[in-house]
Amino acid sequence: MTLRLIFIIALIFSPLNSFADSPRRVELIPQEGKHAFPFFDTPTSVWSYNDQVPGPTIRGKKGTTISVEVLNRLKEPTSVHWHCLRIDNAMDGVPGVTQDPIQPGDRFTYRLKLTEAGTYWYHPHFNAGEQLERGLKGVLIVDESETLPWSQDLVWLMDDWRLDRDGTIFPRFNTRHDLMHDGRWGNVVTINGKLKPEYVVSPGERIRLRMINGANARIFSPVLEGLSADVIAVDGKPVSEIFPFQGFYLSPGNRIDLDIVIPPEAAGKTLQVKDAISQDPSVLASLAVTQDTPRETPMFTPPTAEKFIPASIFNDVEMIKTWDLNAIRGGRFGIGWSMNLKLWPASDNADVKIGKRYKITFVNSSTRLHPMHIHGVFFRVLERNGTPAVEPFTRDTVLVGPRETVTIGFVPEHHGIWLTHCHIQSHAEAGMMSTIRAE
Ligand code: C2O
Ligand code: CU
Repeated sequence: MTLRLIFIIALIFSPLNSFADSPRRVELIPQEGKHAFPFFDTPTSVWSYNDQVPGPTIRGKKGTTISVEVLNRLKEPTSVHWHCLRIDNAMDGVPGVTQDPIQPGDRFTYRLKLTEAGTYWYHPHFNAGEQLERGLKGVLIVDESETLPWSQDLVWLMDDWRLDRDGTIFPRFNTRHDLMHDGRWGNVVTINGKLKPEYVVSPGERIRLRMINGANARIFSPVLEGLSADVIAVDGKPVSEIFPFQGFYLSPGNRIDLDIVIPPEAAGKTLQVKDAISQDPSVLASLAVTQDTPRETPMFTPPTAEKFIPASIFNDVEMIKTWDLNAIRGGRFGIGWSMNLKLWPASDNADVKIGKRYKITFVNSSTRLHPMHIHGVFFRVLERNGTPAVEPFTRDTVLVGPRETVTIGFVPEHHGIWLTHCHIQSHAEAGMMSTIRAE
């Protein structure tokens, strides 16, 4: 055989080059590894994707398909869920609903058709309270088809860890304390796995800052000191009208994208981003502004939501489900978190039809927090405690505060069985999960 012929045959059979439109392949290997926190002599044992904390940022352009091959090197089963990426239901990564768990040593390939640009993230949906806490999570970004001239695109995966004095991850999960409170809040807060990291920016730069709350339970309330910003997207989707950022409760699962111009007068300063969730705001990260002469600020208008559903279309719509959220005795841990007094998997589920309008109400009868998340659906908040509270954006996760009632509206667009749950991992594991079946 001539070399030329071998080359041609190799080309035909090569899985990567055979078709111009074949999906880009990414490999994710959940495995045990080490992560160095700055204040301990020895690195901390973690579970992570590809030995990175957080896992690799997966990026793809809108309209393309990515195939993610997961090889489970953990000692227990796992799965990968693409938080609110609206994909084929079979790729949603929920064991017992959309797939079997990926056993140790096994592989599973997720084909992700990227139809909507935005900020997403991925995490396991198996033994999630422990797997997320040990470090399994990463960001997924779907880029707009048209590239905007941002000076920088900063991606912050916000997280917290409960570490013991020797630097090990506190090894008990879903404890009685976590279950009776708002889940497992850590004692070390990180951005992209780092403690109070510093990012260098220049005066005049226009920055897209994507904040993703990947914590098990902690709520963040970011404050930008010395900077003004606009909100351009929430939970991945562009807002319908860009508005000034004046604080936002970023509960587990939530994302927010900000448009920030570094003012010329900030040259040489260090601007802090703080978390105002507690009375004494703590530093999350800082922006070190260089002394450079101000750059020319790129001028453009970020995209706003296409086909935005007006809240008024839900006015005469019947409530399809009212989910009462409360603690009951029972379940795997003795304390169950229920939806209508039911504990997963014996849940009280909802059924909907594609293209129709629906309203759902979450009634929090407890004094704890419940960031309620629906897979595969973007919804609009319509009312809080019976008063209109229409937001200029859609969400996939809404924080339902103590004794609060929140009504949402949505129009299902994707077939399948979509999990609905509290994103405080120990509440979900203690039963606070149901499904919405869309047909
Ligand atoms: Cu990030 Cu079932 O969710
Ligand atoms: Cu909850």
